[in-house]
Parts: sequence; C-alpha cells; structure tokens
Amino acid sequence: MCGIVGYIGGRDATPIILNGLKRLEYRGYDSAGLAVLENGHIEIRRDAGKLSQLEALVNDMPIKGKIGIGHTRWATHGEPNARNAHPHIGSTGDFVVVHNGIVENYLTLREELIAEGTKFNSETDTETIVHLIEKYYASSGSLVESVKKTLAQLKGSHGIVVMSSKEPDKIVAARVGNAGGVVIGLSEDENFVASDLPAILEHTRRAIFLESRQMAVVTRGEVAVYDINGKDIHPQVQNIAWDPVAAEKGEYRHFMQKEIHEQVRSLTDTLAGRVDFDEGSVLLHELNLDSDKAKRIQKIIITACGTAAHAGMVGKLLIEHIARIPVEVAIASEFRYADPLVDKNTVVLAISQSGETADTLAAMEEGRSKGAILWSIVNAIGSQAMRIAEGCIAMQVGPEIGVASTKAFTAPLLDLYLLAVYLADLRGVIDSKQRYSLVNDLMLVPSLVGECLDREAAVLDLAKKFRHMRHMLYLGRGINMPIAYEGALKLKEISYIHAEAYPAGEMKHGPIALIDKSMPVVALTPNDPWYDKMISQIEQAMARGGEVIAVATDGDKLIRDLTDHIMWIPKTPWLLSPVVTSIPLQLFAYHIASLLGLDVDQPRNLAKSVTVE
Ligand code: AGP
Repeated sequence: MCGIVGYIGGRDATPIILNGLKRLEYRGYDSAGLAVLENGHIEIRRDAGKLSQLEALVNDMPIKGKIGIGHTRWATHGEPNARNAHPHIGSTGDFVVVHNGIVENYLTLREELIAEGTKFNSETDTETIVHLIEKYYASSGSLVESVKKTLAQLKGSHGIVVMSSKEPDKIVAARVGNAGGVVIGLSEDENFVASDLPAILEHTRRAIFLESRQMAVVTRGEVAVYDINGKDIHPQVQNIAWDPVAAEKGEYRHFMQKEIHEQVRSLTDTLAGRVDFDEGSVLLHELNLDSDKAKRIQKIIITACGTAAHAGMVGKLLIEHIARIPVEVAIASEFRYADPLVDKNTVVLAISQSGETADTLAAMEEGRSKGAILWSIVNAIGSQAMRIAEGCIAMQVGPEIGVASTKAFTAPLLDLYLLAVYLADLRGVIDSKQRYSLVNDLMLVPSLVGECLDREAAVLDLAKKFRHMRHMLYLGRGINMPIAYEGALKLKEISYIHAEAYPAGEMKHGPIALIDKSMPVVALTPNDPWYDKMISQIEQAMARGGEVIAVATDGDKLIRDLTDHIMWIPKTPWLLSPVVTSIPLQLFAYHIASLLGLDVDQPRNLAKSVTVE
C-alpha cells in the first residue's frame, strides 16, 4: 500500500522522511524513493525493493536539504522498478510529485501531453500529474494554481504531494476522494505531510486531516488550507492521543468507520501489482499456475466462515460466469465434517481475514488430506492459512481492528474477480478483447466506492429513521444476494437488531408472512441482470404494508416512485456491483450501532479471530 511522507523545517529532511516511510512499511510496497531540495535543485533517489535498498542508495549518494518528500509504492501502472518508483520529476527538473491513487484518465492525458511534445520516462499514471503541473506553471507562474488546474484534469481519487525548486519554501498537498488520505503534522518551526498518522507521530501530536477536495500549502512556519477552488478553509486541528491505539483511529470515532473509509485505498492497493491496465491483464504469480495446471482444475470449493463466506458466494458467481469452472461454497465448520468429494483436480480455496480461524484451517486440512490443491485469500501476513496454502493471494488492506469486517470483505471480492479473469485467460475461455474489457472495468472501482462514501450523510439520515426497529429483512438476488447476507450480518453483529437475509425469490415460500410496518425490507436493486425480478419482489413487499429501503442506481425513476428510502449508488458494471452495494450497507449498520451508543468496534460476545471450534 502506498505511503507518503514530507518534511519542511530546519532539520535534515532525508532521515526524517526515511524514518517516516519505515513507520508505514507494514502496509507493504515494492519500491521506494525520496526527493530533497538540495542547494536550490531537486535531487532524487529511488529504487525497487525494500527501504533498506533506498537507504543504501542514500548512503552511497547522500542528499542534504531541509525540505523533501518520499514515497513507498505498490505498482499499479508499470512494473516495480526504479524508473516507475516515486517521486516523479517533470521535464525541467523543477517539479516533483508523489501520489496515492489511480489516474483513471491517464491514457488520454498522456496522449495529449505526448502530442504537445512531452517526453515520458516511466509507465506510471502519476507521471502525467507532474507534467501537467509543469505545463500549468509555465502559464500561471504559481505552484498552487498549477496544482489546482491539474487536479481539475484528473479523474479518480487521489492524495498528491508536490514540491518545486521554483517555490522552494513550500510543499503543496491535496486530497480528492478517499484513495489518499493526507494528514498535516504541525510543529514549532517545522511541519510534516503524510498519508498516514504513524509516519509523523514521533514528531508531533497536532494534526490536520485534509478532507476530500481540499489542499494545503505547507511552509516551515505556517499551514494554509483551501478547497480546490481556492476558497479559504479554517481546518480543525486535532490533538492526537498518546495512546497508540487511539492515535491509529485518527479522525474517526471508531475503527469500523475508519476501515469503511479506507476502502478506496485498500481496493486501489488490491489491484496494485496484480493488474496491468495497459495490457489488460491480471498477474497472480503467487498461485504458481500455468495454462496446463489451470486447465486441469475441474472444480473449486471455496471454504470460509461468516463475512469471508459471503465473499466466497460472490466468488462462485464470478468464477463460474467468467472462467466457466464449477464452484461450490462450503461453510468451513460444515465442510470439515462433511466427507467432501475432493480429489487432486479440485482446488480448495480458503478465505480468511485473520488466517487463524479454527474451522477454516480444519477445512483446509480436510482438503489437503484428500489431495486437493490448496489456495487461500488471507489478510494477516504470516498466518497459518497463508503458510499452509500452496498459493496465497494476500489481501492488501492492512490490519483490520473492528470486529465487524468491512475492508477485508470488499478486498477479496476484487481478488476473486482477478482470479476469475486470470483462470479464464489461462484456460482460453475469454479472448483478449473480453479480458481487456473486464480488466478495464476494475479501474473504476475505487472511485465508485469513493462516491458511495461521499454520500454517508444520506445513509446517516436513514439510520436515524430506522434505528429503533427490532427486525429487518434484507433481500437480494444473483450476484447481490450474498450482499444481502453480509448487510444483515453487519447489522446484527454490531447493533443487536435481528436481521435476516433471503434470496428475494424465496419470499413467497414463507418469509413474506413476516412483512408488516415493523419489519422494514432492505432491497438490493442495482442495475444487474436480476433487476426486474427485484422490482417485483419490492412491489409484493409493499403491497403487504412493508417499508422498503432500496440500494439503487443513480437516476432509477422506477425505484424513486416506489419508495422514499433510497441509498443511491453510482452506475457500476454489474460483475463489480457487490463491491459498491456493500458500502451503503456497511455505513447503515455502522451508523445505527453508533447512534444507539453501542460498542461498535468490540460488540458483545464476538472475537476478531475465532481460533476455537
Ligand atoms: C465479520 O464481520 C465477522 N466478525 C465474522 O463473521 C468473520 O468474518 C468470521 O469469523 C471469519 O473470520 P476470518 O475471515 O478471520 O476467517
């Protein structure tokens, strides 16, 4: 996961930046770099690999200066090598940029810049940013103005930090959307910039968190914050607690809320290093697969518990639809005793945030004892489920503290999509055009999720209205049916409200008897192939006096006529819609529990890692 650190003050910037980057090391990265303003010109050191390599480089060729920026990178565009590592420098050598996020329209921007004579030195999307800043500086003569104009050109969600030898007294930082958090650390006669608090906590406890569409001009003695149209903002300065746990929570009330908001970034990181958007290809080297091995797979059994099992249910549909391999989903606590039909051509794929869930590990052992190929999708690095698998896709979401899983739910949804495309490609089930289009759709996901997060206030209003209900019914169909299960699980585990989920078509076979005014129905109705079927289920529920809360796509007039309670989501390719429909349901559950004053992060009776049977 990418990390950013910047410094301006009276001390030597290089060790401060290197130390800050080290504090972010646990998030993972595959290259690192820094830029320091030395005697009026920008000096860069960057390399592939770990920070120790960058340190060795800096020891060989030291740079000294009192202002600088640094970055750890997970590759998204272009392989992890020194050329693609951040910081990126423009053609004149006067501007340098580090960036978290994906420039969704970078190909168009790149082509336009090349047509104007710009030469590119890397394959990254980030390099377009520095060239745009340089271009706008030529006409405006102002760093702040050129950053503003550049931001207006970029599609997607970003955290950007810029330094220039033309204006050597400042660092400019900006945040648009949620891919890149930006925090400014305030101190005496020096200031800091970072993507995450841990990078600067050893220097200061006073911080300003930039909101989306805000930028900061950071000088040695002052920090000014504006919105991206240039209007002055008076930001709240937060005093961060010394307790390291509270400090990690940063600007959020609960870890769960923080983790919900981290998803733009965690999903960007999930794609990093695994997707080549230029080639339209997926790379999952960690599975050690080739075409022959992929073709021998006859069946995949996904095994997991709770939230992870819901991700698996979406995975079944994705893999069957895209790669045309039969998939079963087995709840791990059942699978381990089910004497399952498994052989050497079966893949047993475990999904687990903790990688230590006793039932999931036992299910993996059951698969292994019967000769299956063992894969896993796991978050906790070094955990058992990661170690015993032959191939493991590591989630790139960082530690998840809230007991109710959020970011470790949406990441495996993307991992399973990547797996489906990868298998389909290796087995020759899709052609390059189909593969390109499937991969291209992925690029949109982080900002679609960001748009949902920007609508949090509307979800909070609904949470206020429904918080006193004692029961709720969640309905979905097809690829969004597991999201109904997951939405109901989120609500029940943190709010203690009874929530049940059903495939909507089952309603008429019994559960419809429950419907009345005191049983609101949460209906998932994105634009997917099951949309018409969901509409008729909603009508049936409403005809029986049920109040419907719909998750629906912007501009859906039919839904607007049916109900007043709508969580709107942006238009999304249907195979990726579960990632997007999950977001309002996570927020809905979170706000209900928070409004009820409950212990959101540590709900009663639950443990984060269930290591007993
Ligand atoms: C999720 O909100 C729950 N706390 C729970 O269902 C969890 O997903 C389950 O226990 C599996 O955990 P794992 O992903 O660590 O294996």
